[in-house]
Amino acid sequence: MQLQGRTAVVTGGTRGLGRAVARALADEGAIVVAAARDVRPDPPDKGGRVVHVKADVTVPQSMADLMRTAHERYGGPHIVVANAGVSRPGPVSVLSDEDWDAVVGTNLTGVFHTVRAAVPYLQEAGSGRIITMSSLLGRRAMPGASAYCASKAAVERFTEVCALELAPRGITVNCLSPGFVEEGQGRALMANETLWPRLRDTLAAGRPGTGAEVARAAVFLASSESSYVNGAVLPVDGGVRW
Ligand SMILES: NC(=O)c1ccc[n+]([C@@H]2O[C@H](COP(=O)([O-])OP(=O)(O)OC[C@H]3O[C@@H](n4cnc5c(N)ncnc54)[C@H](OP(=O)(O)O)[C@@H]3O)[C@@H](O)[C@H]2O)c1
Repeated sequence: MQLQGRTAVVTGGTRGLGRAVARALADEGAIVVAAARDVRPDPPDKGGRVVHVKADVTVPQSMADLMRTAHERYGGPHIVVANAGVSRPGPVSVLSDEDWDAVVGTNLTGVFHTVRAAVPYLQEAGSGRIITMSSLLGRRAMPGASAYCASKAAVERFTEVCALELAPRGITVNCLSPGFVEEGQGRALMANETLWPRLRDTLAAGRPGTGAEVARAAVFLASSESSYVNGAVLPVDGGVRW
């Protein structure tokens, strides 16, 4: 129970990888506020330790409200996982403004909104932890994923700058870079019968990752075990020959 007494906010924590991270943080004792746009009246997860709150990372006021709600209800937050992300594949020659804006607005600007809103609370709480979510595609180019690749590469640089700026406030900022994971968007990719066999051949581990494997890395970055890790981009991809 490394995270007993801590409050975590996980954007996009209701589904996919974010939900796996939210559950893993709760398993370590944290109270987790899982935020997303579409919040159903699900029964509380993990015996009430994961609560769902409606929020939109593309709206600055929504992120300010989310952090205030978490603070007023549970204290902190001490840990913020900027995980919410979307993918809109398509060749750059025909990619619409709407698709570009959705990807960059969520994956990059949404991370900025999340971090900015969280800083005062993390600073006050002491030993604050921010974890951003990149992707293997933040450092490797994939045709048809220009907006996604660009947004994730930018998140990695953003993370490194935030780490330098926020270290004097006692906040660490690190980034997870998952490869292909059997959760959320990863599942959709695995259903692509043309693309997936080629991608699978690049996996040194011989298999995709699980949500739990990514979540364990998030627990490490959220815990005191990572006190001297700052500005790191941690690949969680099993090794990729690409
Ligand atoms: N799965 C993979 O293989 C993989 C690999 C590498 C990196 N990643 C990254 O991991 C993160 C999670 O991916 P995933 O595969 O788990 O995706 P997912 O299953 O599609 O889940 C995305 C989550 O983000 C939320 N979300 C989307 N837009 C939002 C917004 N504007 N405001 C608040 N919440 C929003 C969604 O809820 P609502 O739609 O209800 O808002 C949902 O909870 C993303 O950043 C993704 O790029 C995933």
